[in-house]
Amino acid sequence: MNEQAIQKAKEQFGRIIEEQLARIERLKKAEDWVDYSQIKPVIVGILGGDGIGPYIAKESKRALEFILKDEIAGGKVKIKDIEGLTIENRAAKMKPIPDDVLEEIKTCHVTLKGPTTTPRKGDPWPNIESANVAMRKVLDLFANVRPVKVPNLGIDWIFFRENTEDMYMLGSNGIEVTDDMAVDFKVITNQGSERIIRAAFEYARKNKRKRVTIVTKANVIKTTDGKFLKVGQQIAKEYPGIECDDWYIDIMTAKLLDPKRRTDFQVAVLPNLYGDILTDEAAELQGGVGTAGSANIGKRYSMFEAIHGSAPRMVTEGRAQYADPCSMIRAAAMLVRHIGYPEKAEKLEMALEICGQFEKKLVITGRSSGATGEDYTNYLMETVKDAKLRDRWISYQKTAVAA
Ligand code: IPM
Ligand code: MG
Repeated sequence: MNEQAIQKAKEQFGRIIEEQLARIERLKKAEDWVDYSQIKPVIVGILGGDGIGPYIAKESKRALEFILKDEIAGGKVKIKDIEGLTIENRAAKMKPIPDDVLEEIKTCHVTLKGPTTTPRKGDPWPNIESANVAMRKVLDLFANVRPVKVPNLGIDWIFFRENTEDMYMLGSNGIEVTDDMAVDFKVITNQGSERIIRAAFEYARKNKRKRVTIVTKANVIKTTDGKFLKVGQQIAKEYPGIECDDWYIDIMTAKLLDPKRRTDFQVAVLPNLYGDILTDEAAELQGGVGTAGSANIGKRYSMFEAIHGSAPRMVTEGRAQYADPCSMIRAAAMLVRHIGYPEKAEKLEMALEICGQFEKKLVITGRSSGATGEDYTNYLMETVKDAKLRDRWISYQKTAVAA
């Protein structure tokens, strides 16, 4: 009996290795970065998702249309809705992204995506792969960029989470060897590590950040994390003006809570799973996962999303209109910057900061005790409209530094 199980597991392992080696060959032929300034119109797809997704997507789309009003009117940017990335449709088609939805996504240059329910073992839904993870893989969105900024605490971090490898790559392809034993796989490649680490250093160089921190558990997970760290240390040599240090994920998790040390961190680069966990912790310091945005960047396509889940309970309890759209609006701001309008992105980000961290004229609690997503988005847009937006933002920054 065990003989047969072992044989079957070996064969599955063999197929996995072949597929991964083929993927490396594709990575070696990597294409150039798309140049949005050469494209007219840049097509932005809006994917509502499920749970609270359609509610916060509606507000985010409003914010996006507001900030890009002139570009849309001038035919430089076109926004379109893409239906069907719902858990019901994905379950009916038994696909993480139904084929027709994927075709639609590929007609867009970038997408703004609401959260999508990820079924797990024991859920009423079939055990299909996460739509996020599938989209990151099929569109090769290798850089998951997650900024976290808390001026009052002196925190200004940006995380570069590898998005296509590590425990996630084969997260739905583990082997149930016997009833008693299951095996999952962690895959790290030179090519996959190099491109994310380079993206982190390039960001640091362009944005005058002085330090890049590589986060692994290379003391224990020696082969794969060891590879990530080694690639990182080699690339660091190409950037002599930028200090590079490395931390283990456990102590890094602790140090993000240490007021004396955490303000030293600037840019962090890390494998997929550690990045998933650490960015939730970081976002919590900013006011919760509802406040953080996330960019999934590839050379050809990019997708921007909220970092939190679809909160189906808020919908069943009739509270969806109180869901916080800020995470997705922050993602919209990242999208605006990515397609070439940094000043407009900055306006939206300043408004998010003023409203969410300083002024707090409206507060979202997720319940009727707080503002609705719609009212909050109106508050943000009013703030963006203010001719003195920047002065207002600067004066708040000063009070934060003084505090
Ligand atoms: C995230 C989310 C996803 C992930 C889930 C929904 C699959 O937690 O974007 O961080 O684990 O990557
Ligand atoms: Mg996560």
